[in-house]
Amino acid sequence: MPSGTANPAITLRVIGIGPGGPRQITLEAIDAIAATDVFFLLDKGSRVAQLTAVRQDFLDRYARDGHRVVVAADPPRDREPADYAAEVRRWHTARVDALAAAITGSLSPGESGAFLVWGDPALYDSTLRLTDQLTGRAGLDIEVEAIPGVTSASALTAAHGIVAHDIGEPVVITTGRRLGEDDGPNRIVMLDSHLAFTSAAAPDDHVYWGANLGTPEQVLRSGRVGDVAADIERERARLRERTGWVMDVYLLRRAGGTGDGSPG
Ligand SMILES: C[S@@+](CC[C@H](N)C(=O)[O-])C[C@H]1O[C@@H](n2cnc3c(N)ncnc32)[C@H](O)[C@@H]1O
Repeated sequence: MPSGTANPAITLRVIGIGPGGPRQITLEAIDAIAATDVFFLLDKGSRVAQLTAVRQDFLDRYARDGHRVVVAADPPRDREPADYAAEVRRWHTARVDALAAAITGSLSPGESGAFLVWGDPALYDSTLRLTDQLTGRAGLDIEVEAIPGVTSASALTAAHGIVAHDIGEPVVITTGRRLGEDDGPNRIVMLDSHLAFTSAAAPDDHVYWGANLGTPEQVLRSGRVGDVAADIERERARLRERTGWVMDVYLLRRAGGTGDGSPG
């Protein structure tokens, strides 16, 4: 949410850069990058080195001369906590502390900073929550601007050339962890390294799967779950082996719902 400060000293941009393809960044995002003085990177370690490389490529192409990059070490996080929501809240507070220190240490009044966010900032990304907390901090005079990006959900449906639903139907965007929770006939599933559909979906449901979308390593598969699930599991493992990273997303369409599971 914008801070609403009348004369903010610092502009902080949260820029959606699309799902990784060099041509899936918007002109608005490119302009926002060109207008920024300091880019903040949350260092998540080598596991996501490929993601850092994509961001670096965008900075090399679009950032202005003299821009600075500040890497803030990402505070450690318990991946298997007893209380998931409480652990996420604790981790977010630790991140806000680290970012507040990075911002005050690197930005002068009148300058602007930015975060380059994968896909669109509104979906399964906490950066806008963090900046919202930053605007509430005493001593920080910040205005936040969000720039939308192409989400992996739209990269997926475009790559398959499909509408995500039959006429007038709802679509739920969810995570593998929550798949199956009263989520209607069309589910777009992110953050699912375990491919939850292989056990949660019916064999006659239809899946449209895409991995590393928008990049030269993009892989697509689609079909009846009972026919293609094993192939998708194999492809996912192969891709990880070959490229060292996999990000995948899928649309799951329920058979026997309003539609018949085929493209609407
Ligand atoms: C932390 S979420 C961020 C989602 C992002 N904000 C968006 O709008 O796509 C990361 C998840 O997005 C999906 N994703 C992001 N980029 C992708 C890509 N290039 N190919 C396939 N899935 C991708 C995967 O489901 C991944 O687990």
